[in-house]
Amino acid sequence: MSKNGTVSASVIKRLPRYYRFLGELIKQGTERISSRELAALMKLTASQIRQDLNCFGGFGQQGYGYNVEELHTQIGRILGVDRKFSTILIGAGNLGRAIASHINFESRGCLLIGMFDSNPKMTGKAVAGSTVRHTDELEFFCRTHKPEVAVLCIPKDNTQAIAEQLVGLGVKAFWNFSHYDLSVDHENIVVENVHLGDSLLTLTYRVNHLLHSDDEQEQKDKTE
Ligand code: NAI
Repeated sequence: MSKNGTVSASVIKRLPRYYRFLGELIKQGTERISSRELAALMKLTASQIRQDLNCFGGFGQQGYGYNVEELHTQIGRILGVDRKFSTILIGAGNLGRAIASHINFESRGCLLIGMFDSNPKMTGKAVAGSTVRHTDELEFFCRTHKPEVAVLCIPKDNTQAIAEQLVGLGVKAFWNFSHYDLSVDHENIVVENVHLGDSLLTLTYRVNHLLHSDDEQEQKDKTE
């Protein structure tokens, strides 16, 4: 934690992973775990874990380790999953429908309350227990239901305009899947840009280096 009391972005980034692993441990019936055991499971060091969790006051006890359920609850609270942020999804195409169907919003602090699409052919279609509305209804819906979060699953050319409109309607955070690095020129607006392709590129980089170093080793072995 920094001197002004803020937690570093890298620690915050690791919290969802802690939360996920602890959730798995609860499912397996594990009641407590030492930082060493958790470190082995998560391929981190025990001191990294202690350091991370100390940022929030440290939840462990010397000689006992961490109470898994308690730690899961505390991290969930820090992540805000005990909140239920009203959430709308814009763009009920292939990606939007997949996200609405496969992401458990509720367990992550969000409540999906509406889906919108500009294509009239999508209007009235049922997706993941919700009915797709036309974007013509967006303004009225937002004024009535005051969503705080919007998931954007629309083509990149349309993203900035709809984000600006939604900010005007009170939306505070964007989970942005469109291939456009959204930047909203307003204070106190949260943007999380997601590019699955970037994750794949990280993989190709790593596999490229792995295979490249294997080739180099082979070359070395041949010349020795
Ligand atoms: P899609 O064409 O199946 O669906 C897009 C939907 O958005 C359509 O139903 C369309 O009518 C609607 N739409 C377009 N403009 C709109 C607006 N202004 N307001 C409301 N709805 C609008 O496309 P798909 O496969 O669902 O992909 C959506 C976007 O997400 C694409 O731009 C794609 O490149 C991107 N994408 C991003 C990924 C990522 O990792 N970030 C992964 C896959 C796709």
